[in-house]
Amino acid sequence: KATPRVRQLAASLIQHLHDFARENELAVDEWMQGVELMNAAGQMSNDKRNEGQLLCDILGLESLVDEITYRLASDATDEPTATAILGPFYRHNAPQRDMGACIVSDEINKQGDRTWMHGIVTDFRTGEPIEGAVVDVWHTAPNGLYEQQDPDQPEMNLRGRFTTGKDGTYNFYCLRPVPYPIPYDGPAGKVLKALDRHPMRPAHIHFLLTAPGYKPIVTQIFDRKSKYIENDAVFAVKDSLIVDFTPFKGDPNAEFELPYDFKMASF
Ligand code: DHB
Ligand code: FE
Repeated sequence: KATPRVRQLAASLIQHLHDFARENELAVDEWMQGVELMNAAGQMSNDKRNEGQLLCDILGLESLVDEITYRLASDATDEPTATAILGPFYRHNAPQRDMGACIVSDEINKQGDRTWMHGIVTDFRTGEPIEGAVVDVWHTAPNGLYEQQDPDQPEMNLRGRFTTGKDGTYNFYCLRPVPYPIPYDGPAGKVLKALDRHPMRPAHIHFLLTAPGYKPIVTQIFDRKSKYIENDAVFAVKDSLIVDFTPFKGDPNAEFELPYDFKMASF
């Protein structure tokens, strides 16, 4: 629909595309390579593979848009938890699990560094705990694959939704994640190669936080000790999202502990 916003975006996009072609004296065969890249991305995309998003991400576009959308009012004294990109592997309807449950299948749990993650979800202005906050979490298996990329994992493995009670706390068992490459067997991989860039992301865990009356938070946390923390292929790392996994004694179910608190902003 030709809303004013659509007109504005289209006019600006066309102007920048034309400027790009003029400034670089873009030749027909170069333009056609771009067309073929887009076509290839479209052809390989399905509900398990989002190549268009991957292409945007390696160009830093999703991270930029995340920053623009969720930038903070400059007068904020304290701040809600920083956001980070959603990435292409989120799935709706992750299993709702009881507090304290393990999101890892038995088989995969034997292969990784078992971790007890816990914390509290609070209102960043009042510091009060938030009841009914849903912590939706997802991360990769030790082989670097999300469940939908990997036929050897059970459906919805390494995913879960946890709902806080009155005290705002949450806790669950997961794994300490590993660095891994974004899928690079398609157009995004071609672009990375052409730019002499690696496809690796630092070890991270994804979250979507929602709570009644609060702005949703899409974010990721990153293992300080992980390789690639300084050069994430998709530019998502922020200082406040870097966390420490610490050795955990006395729990037969976990080798590491990961405390992390989330702060949300009301509408
Ligand atoms: C991207 C993000 C991820 O979290 C991931 O695991 C793989 C790829 C991305 O932004 O393209
Ligand atoms: Fe990821």
